[in-house]
Amino acid sequence: MEERKIVTSLFVYAYDELPADYKRLVDEAKRVTKDAYAPYSKFHVGAALLLANGEIVSATNQENAAYPSGMCAERVTMFYANSRYPNQSPKALAIASFAEGDFLDEPITPCGACRQVLLEAEMRYGADINVLLYGKRGVYVVSSVKALLPLSFDSSLLK
Ligand code: THU
Repeated sequence: MEERKIVTSLFVYAYDELPADYKRLVDEAKRVTKDAYAPYSKFHVGAALLLANGEIVSATNQENAAYPSGMCAERVTMFYANSRYPNQSPKALAIASFAEGDFLDEPITPCGACRQVLLEAEMRYGADINVLLYGKRGVYVVSSVKALLPLSFDSSLLK
C-alpha cells in the first residue's frame, strides 16, 4: 500500500493587489449578482468569464420551483460563452455571491457539477482557466479548474 498526496495551492489576494483586468472581472461578477433569479434560496451568485478576445461574458444563477431544474451561475455563464463564442478560449472566471444584503466575507467555491463543466471547457480549449473567488476579506485565485477538481474524469479516460 502506498499513499499518494494531491496538493492544491491557491493565492489569496487583497482586491487592490489584483491586476486591472482581474479587478474588472471581479467587479462584473459582483455587479451582476443583482440580476440573479434566486427567489427560493435568496442566494445571488454572479459569474464573469474573460475570453481570449478580451470580451467578458457574465451571468447569474437561475432557480426554478422544481428546484433541481435551476442552474448555478458558473454553468449558465460557461454554456452561454461557449454557445455565443465557440472559438474564444476562456481565460479567467470570477465568482461573487450576495446574500442577506451584502457580499460574503469568504468566497464561495463552485459546486462539483460546475467544476466538471468548467473542466470540460479547460480541456476543450487546451488552456488553463484562472478561477477568482471573491470574498470581502480576500480573493482566492486558483490557477486552473484542474486544480479545483483533483482525480477528475475527462475525455482522455473514455475508450
Ligand atoms: N449557486 C451558484 O450559482 N454557484 C455556486 O457556486 C454555488 C451555488 C447557486 C445555486 C442556487 O441557486 C443557490 O446558489 C443556492 O445554492
